[in-house]
Amino acid sequence: KAGKLVDTFGRVAKDLRISLTDRCNLRCTYCMPAEGLPWLPKDTLLTDDEIVRLARIAVERLGIEEIRFTGGEPLLRPGLVSIVDQVAKMTPRPDMSLTTNALGLSKNAQALADAGLNRVNVSLDTLNDVTFTSLTRRNRFADTIAGIEAAAAAGLTPVKVNSVLMRGINDTEPAALLQWALDHGYELRFIEQMPIDGGHVWDRHTMITAEEILAQLQPLFDLTPDPAHRGAAPAETWLVNGGPAKVGIIGSVTRPFCGDCDRTRLTADGDIRNCLFAREESDLRTPLRSGATDEELAEQWRKAMWGKRAGHGIDDPSFLQPARPMSAIGG
Ligand code: GTP
Ligand code: 5AD
Ligand code: SF4
Repeated sequence: KAGKLVDTFGRVAKDLRISLTDRCNLRCTYCMPAEGLPWLPKDTLLTDDEIVRLARIAVERLGIEEIRFTGGEPLLRPGLVSIVDQVAKMTPRPDMSLTTNALGLSKNAQALADAGLNRVNVSLDTLNDVTFTSLTRRNRFADTIAGIEAAAAAGLTPVKVNSVLMRGINDTEPAALLQWALDHGYELRFIEQMPIDGGHVWDRHTMITAEEILAQLQPLFDLTPDPAHRGAAPAETWLVNGGPAKVGIIGSVTRPFCGDCDRTRLTADGDIRNCLFAREESDLRTPLRSGATDEELAEQWRKAMWGKRAGHGIDDPSFLQPARPMSAIGG
C-alpha cells in the first residue's frame, strides 16, 4: 500500500479537496439554517502552515494532482492567497481551483490568479435578485455577479457556475441560467440537491432530478452528449448547439458516479474524509500536532482511504446523513 491513495475497489485518489473554513457569509436554505451552525472551535482549525504541510505530503508522497479549496466560504480565510502561492511552488505543481460564492472575489481575483490559482467554480442558483435574497438570506446578488465577472477578467477560467435547483423556488430558471451562461462564456452545471444540509431539509420527493432538468432544456437548446472523456468528473456534459459551449448536470443522487471517484477530503479541523458521505473520519490534526513525521501522516492518510466504501448509499434503507453538514466538509 505504500505510495498512492488507493482503496479496496481499486480507485486511486488524485484530487484533494481542502475545506479552509466552515463559516460562510451566505445562508443558502439548502445548506445552512438562518442562524448559522455551531462553528468549529478556533483552536481546532488547522493553521496556514499546517494546511501547506499536509498539501505538500499529499503532492509529494501520495500522488495528488489537483487541489480544490472549498469552505464554507474559502474567501473568508485571510491566508488564502498565501496558501495558494505556497502550493503553486510544489513539485509536481498541482492544478488548483476554488469553489466559492464569489462574494469579495472582485477584490481578490487578480491576486489569486497571480499566486497561481488556475480556475474557480462559483455557486449561483438564480438570476432573480429577489429570489437570490430569499434563497441565500442575504441581499448580495450584485456582489456575486461582480465577483464572477472579476474571476473571468482575471483569467480564472473556465469559470464554472454551479446551480442547485429547488422545486417552487428556482426550478423554472434552467433555460434562463443557461442562456446567461452562454452569453457570458461560463460553463453552467446543474446539481441535484443532496441529503447533506445542516438543517436536514432534503426531501427525495421534491428533489429536481437530472432527467427533469434535461427535459426542460432539450426543447430549447440543441444538446449533444460531450464526446470528451468524462474521467472522474461529477458532471455529465452536453455540447450546446454543437459546441464548444457546454452544459453539465451533476446527478449525484439519480446518476451516481461513485465508481469513478478520485477524491480525498481534508476538513478545516484536520480530519481526512474518504467520501463526502463517509460516516467515519480519520484525525490527522492530533498526530500532526504531536510530532508525527511526514511519512507517518502519509501512512495514516493511506489507511483512511483504504477503508472507502463503494458509494454514498443514499438509496439504502439504512442511509444516514453524515454528522458533518456540507459546509463543514467542503462539498
Ligand atoms: P470540477 O473539477 O470543476 O468539475 O469540480 P467539481 O464539480 O468536482 O467541484 P465543485 O466544488 O464545483 O462541486 C460541484 C458539485 O459536485 C457540488 O454539489 C459538490 O458537492 C459535488 N461533488 C463534488 N465532489 C463530489 C463527490 O465526491 N461526490 C458527490 N456525490 N458529489 C460531489
Ligand atoms: N446538494 C447539492 N449541492 C450542494 N451544494 C451545497 N449544498 C448542496 C446540497 N445539499 C453546492 C453549492 C456549491 C457546491 C460546493 O455544492 O451550491 O456550488
Ligand atoms: Fe455558503 Fe456555499 Fe452553504 Fe451557500 S452553499 S451557505 S454559499 S457554504
